[in-house]
Amino acid sequence: MRIGMLTGGGDCPGLNAVIRAVVRKGILHYDDEFIGFMQGWRGVLDNVTMPLTLETTSGILHRGGTILKSSRTNVKKIPGGFEQCLKVIQNQKLDAVIALGGDDTQSISLALAERGVKCVGVPKTIDNDLNGTDACFGFDTAVTIATEAVDRLHSTTEAHSRVQVVEVMGRDAGWIAVTAGVAGGADVVLAPEKPIDIDEVVRLVKARWASGKNFAIVVVAEGAKLPHVEGQLTVGDKLDSFGHARLSGIGQALAEEIEKRTGYETRSVNLGHTQRGGTPTAFDRMLATRYGLAAIDLVHEGKFGQLVVLKGNKIGSISIADAISKNRTVSDDYFEVVTGLQPKK
Ligand code: F6P
Repeated sequence: MRIGMLTGGGDCPGLNAVIRAVVRKGILHYDDEFIGFMQGWRGVLDNVTMPLTLETTSGILHRGGTILKSSRTNVKKIPGGFEQCLKVIQNQKLDAVIALGGDDTQSISLALAERGVKCVGVPKTIDNDLNGTDACFGFDTAVTIATEAVDRLHSTTEAHSRVQVVEVMGRDAGWIAVTAGVAGGADVVLAPEKPIDIDEVVRLVKARWASGKNFAIVVVAEGAKLPHVEGQLTVGDKLDSFGHARLSGIGQALAEEIEKRTGYETRSVNLGHTQRGGTPTAFDRMLATRYGLAAIDLVHEGKFGQLVVLKGNKIGSISIADAISKNRTVSDDYFEVVTGLQPKK
């Protein structure tokens, strides 16, 4: 078969491992031929490709980013966009397209599948919030980076008897905040799923001082909401092509509020894209590889319109439509891990 592959949306560690696994199994087991579209759906629209062979995908397993580059191109917003994609896919004589991406990228896969393109999806978002899968590759790496940052911040925060707020990624779900917060031993963890109660934050920070530990670490997801601010905090008012604002700033706003209310010096740091950069963890390389192998198998089983998923420790698949129907948010039992370690009211 002749197969096209692309990576769309925010990059995340492990994309190259998926690309490599798809190409290796496709060539070595199925005699497939591959092309890679550059910059997500942009590359399909503009017919910009690179060859994907055993040679071009060698030595990329441990590399972050994506050799195919990425973009948040929304074909729905481009007049004649779908017709253009169909033309390119037909002219390239592709039997199938494998799209690596989160809900935005997969919404285009679904629209193309509805127009007859044989699409298979691979779930990708460090936010880990795609419905139907227990884990997206890249999340473990992001959590590892965020946890190391929290670990490092402990000593300097303690040395200065401060409060340190750490802003992490997580637009609609607090998986990174909760996991890195618990793993890093943060005193307060705040996520988009729960409205922030500033009085409770202040109580927990003061309880740290009362316990004799004159410093505190607060981890907050970028998408969490402050009670006195409408909506999420953003940089500028530009939206991306899928209508998402650029989130940033809750850490600083929260730090100012904590300092005002407690009198303790409070600083904030935003980990930002550091969490998406660099080499994937061994866990993410393994998961990404399993996803890649499963994706090429789905193509050969003729299971189109499906997305590979992890359920427990088993790889399976669900329809792309189901996967993008809602976000997978942090469940209450995870929040209970956070509250179970905090002093009771
Ligand atoms: O969707 C994943 C994500 O990393 C979010 O956590 C974050 O808000 C967003 O992407 C940032 O995207 P960009 O790199 O386009 O600014």
